[in-house]
Amino acid sequence: MPQNPAVLFVCLGNICRSPLAEAAFRRAAERAGLEVTVDSAGTGDWHVGHAPDPRAQDVARKSGVEIGHYRARQLEPNDFHRFTHVLVMDHQNLEDARRIKPAGAATAPRLLLDLVPGREGAAVADPYYGGEEHFDYCWADVCLGADALVRLLISER
Ligand code: 4NP
Repeated sequence: MPQNPAVLFVCLGNICRSPLAEAAFRRAAERAGLEVTVDSAGTGDWHVGHAPDPRAQDVARKSGVEIGHYRARQLEPNDFHRFTHVLVMDHQNLEDARRIKPAGAATAPRLLLDLVPGREGAAVADPYYGGEEHFDYCWADVCLGADALVRLLISER
């Protein structure tokens, strides 16, 4: 029997982009009736145990989504065995995730926006040093990615 999908979103700090991607995807998957395991992680360890950035919490809340209970953790080698899909936000995340992935693990990291027609090769821009509007762009991008990932998982069933 095929394994249920297990999706991991990865960014640098796990306090802005990947928690937003996790939240957008949880909502999209629930709406589509998909049973999936979902988590997010950061390649760096600076924010381990922290809640999402307050600006990320605010942008999600504007769409009725609560992420204040999420806690950051660091990406680990075993994640590439546990998760069937590992989606990263930018090219640095891709390079770092490829370095952390054990040679024998079947799951390879992919750019989230590679799943979105017309956005292949693009990054979800890091909003950390930006203003509120950068969090709006980020939320819009991860919602596009989440919807595209739902379509991919349905096509893989
Ligand atoms: P994220 O954003 O990778 O989307 O969570 C960042 C969060 C923290 C830092 C950089 C980016 N930082 O340098 O602490």
